Amino acid sequence: MTGMSTVVENIGRLITNDAQFEVGATGELRDAWVVFIDGLIESVGTGHAPPADQRIDVGGRCVLPGFVDSHSHLVFGGDRADEFAARMAGRAYEAGGIRTTVAATRAATDDELLAGATALLSEARRSGTTTIEIKSGYGLTAANEARALRVARQLTDDTTFLGAHVVPAEFEGRIDDYVTLVCGEMLAECAPYARWIDAFCERGAFDADQCRAILNAGHDAGLGMRLHANQLGHGPGVQLAVELGCASADHCTYLSDDDIAALAGGDTIATFLPATDFSTRQPYPDARRLLAAGGRAALASNCNPGSSYTTSIPFCIALAVRDMNMTIDEAIWAATAGGAAALRRVDIGIVSTGARADLVVLETDNPIDFVYRPGVPLIASTIIGGSTF
Ligand code: NIG
Repeated sequence: MTGMSTVVENIGRLITNDAQFEVGATGELRDAWVVFIDGLIESVGTGHAPPADQRIDVGGRCVLPGFVDSHSHLVFGGDRADEFAARMAGRAYEAGGIRTTVAATRAATDDELLAGATALLSEARRSGTTTIEIKSGYGLTAANEARALRVARQLTDDTTFLGAHVVPAEFEGRIDDYVTLVCGEMLAECAPYARWIDAFCERGAFDADQCRAILNAGHDAGLGMRLHANQLGHGPGVQLAVELGCASADHCTYLSDDDIAALAGGDTIATFLPATDFSTRQPYPDARRLLAAGGRAALASNCNPGSSYTTSIPFCIALAVRDMNMTIDEAIWAATAGGAAALRRVDIGIVSTGARADLVVLETDNPIDFVYRPGVPLIASTIIGGSTF
């Protein structure tokens, strides 16, 4: 604790997500400033900035809450560039490709896994991500899943045990035995390093009863629940996630009317992962139908070597506005406050007194540039807990 104050001043447009500023959906302020001390926001205002020990003049640029990427798989070995190239030539995405990464991950050393995940985290920070969730899921033995979570724990508090990603080759035809392992020995070894439990509810992965058993076991072990749901087709995942009170149902590419009604009536965030739909040539989710019904959405990267090899939340925002018909305000809310809600966090995703000093300074004064100027570097700096990266 230094007690040193810093003021970020001359902010042309400040997105706060703070309901006390009743300006648009995102609590937008003009000609604004933010003061932080010891990594926490002390005060927010407009007009003449107050005195402080240090000053950061952003020259009229736009400032946002840091992006909260609530879904990633950063701990893995190898890549799947060949699989991606084949897909671009017409082959369909199949969940079975996960086993290729499982083999490469098991073969990697701890140092290699940490170095790869650390490099991806740095890349994410350079594009404005200030909080990230990281899943296991490419180890699929008790020792390898726990190892992935120990690596992830060095990079984030929001770690997720995903032993139920797919059934590994050595359990082919013995899925019930694998579910027993996940709920028993594997969970016991992984729970100390995890905040969340997740499962892949999909044809070719795990069915609703298996996912229910796995998530309940995780809940009994003190973990929060989240679920991969309705990625490759319609299925029971979204409604199961709502029934169990999961923090988030992730993907939601295929949403029936009943799924929308369940999400709108429940407490579960729909986490959209549009870079996945881009990379797998799937349809994009119908975000408008969900939002019109009163559902809440997050946007996340799903960074992984198979279905979505990007850490860029700006890219996800561009897709959400261009291809999912979200407004820029809705997309920014989803990538910040929505991600925080999907992680059940109240200290991030908002620019407000007491929140963590996580800010993104854009090169521009207008966030529509995420879509209007796609692919160009728009992040001037990323501030995490008051430190600039
Ligand atoms: O969220 N859906 C399951 N898991 C990842 C895919 C991982 C992979 O293909 O390696 C996803 O898309």
